[in-house]
Amino acid sequence: SIDFSTLTRSTGLTSLDYGFVNTAATRSAITYIDGDAGILRYRGYPIEQVAQNSTFLEVAWLLIHGELPSASELSEFDDKIRRHTLLHEDLKRFFSALPHDAHPMSVLSSAVSALSTFYQDSLSVHDPEQVELSTIRLLAKLPVIAAYAHKKSVGQAFLYPDNSLSFVDNFLRLNFGTMAEPYEVNPVLSKALERLLILHEDHEQNASTSTVRLVGSTQANLFASVSAGINALYGPLHGGANEAVLDMLASIRDSGESVQKFVERVKRKEEGVKLMGFGHRVYKNFDPRARLVKESADEVLTALGIHDPLLDIAKELEEVALADDYFIERRLYPNVDFYTGVIYKAMGFPTRMFTVLFAIGRLPGWIAHWREMIADPATKIGRPQQLYVGSPERSWPAER
Ligand code: ACO
Repeated sequence: SIDFSTLTRSTGLTSLDYGFVNTAATRSAITYIDGDAGILRYRGYPIEQVAQNSTFLEVAWLLIHGELPSASELSEFDDKIRRHTLLHEDLKRFFSALPHDAHPMSVLSSAVSALSTFYQDSLSVHDPEQVELSTIRLLAKLPVIAAYAHKKSVGQAFLYPDNSLSFVDNFLRLNFGTMAEPYEVNPVLSKALERLLILHEDHEQNASTSTVRLVGSTQANLFASVSAGINALYGPLHGGANEAVLDMLASIRDSGESVQKFVERVKRKEEGVKLMGFGHRVYKNFDPRARLVKESADEVLTALGIHDPLLDIAKELEEVALADDYFIERRLYPNVDFYTGVIYKAMGFPTRMFTVLFAIGRLPGWIAHWREMIADPATKIGRPQQLYVGSPERSWPAER
């Protein structure tokens, strides 16, 4: 067994580790990844079984509390979340102050940051009841904020949540329902979206989760920490990759360039050209989520009767890349983002909403990590070292 207390003591040695490739910043009991074997487990349960048998909220509870909820715990959790979906009316007005063409990720992070101003009775990091209340509020309100960011971008009126609907169905209605007519949830979309959200729920110390932990280590409240995590997710090397994949597929289609030629440009490392949705810091094998998402892409498009040439391009890209020495030597495989965009597009979401959907999926993981960190007596404020490479001491010029 390891004595963790000794690991947190300074040894007087500093290692330089760009991108934290080899440095563990914490211990965690939430998610296990074996990147060489392509294994992902939530609280010990293999992702394949989780995705098959669960609901989004059941997995959220599992991640946050460590064990599966009993039937009564789950229904109480679900009820509480349904009761907290409404946004303060002043917070709704906040959206109109932002430009109509704002990126929904910026709207999302700003509105989540603003939650600290509206819900000041749940900001304590030390009071378990307040932590629980901010957890419920975030889980209830983030999908509503996300749907309003979408409605704003298309210039449509915001709907009030319908709390008779499940978490996912309520979200679909808020996005695609209108004031003019009742909205019928398509069970194919609902099931597929729930599965995608579950696959995104946690992924241990990725950039956004580490951001949530770093901000939270200062004892900033949960809303502030999650808002920072949303901003970290926004970048195209992280959650923003799902949007970037679709842009890449569309630009291949529109330019008429062959997949082979595009891959050659990637291999030549032409400025700004990468195979988006490929490669991962920890998976040096298939990302197990990518396999499951690819299955969903086929199922959803078939069930909706959609034939999308972008899916054909994606499959061809995968086939070409997986047979190419450049990708084989570097152990680059499709990651979770490679096929999600094609599914979100088929569901009717605009490209700029894709990363927002990722954020809703990842929220339980962020909350679970923030709570684990707050409860861990070994937690210290995050404060990396640096190796100074600047000028030695010099005198300010007497005359300038
Ligand atoms: N296309 C082409 N080449 C790539 C790609 C890619 N997608 N990913 C990595 N490489 C190459 C690098 O150029 C590098 O080549 P080199 O050894 O000749 O210099 C080698 O593979 C190693 O790559 P690094 O960038 O060092 O790997 P790192 O672990 O730092 O980066 C990352 C991982 C950011 C995911 C990277 O693979 C990437 O940019 N992928 C595309 C963006 C993407 O899909 N991000 C989503 C990640 S999953 C998620 O956040 C949900």
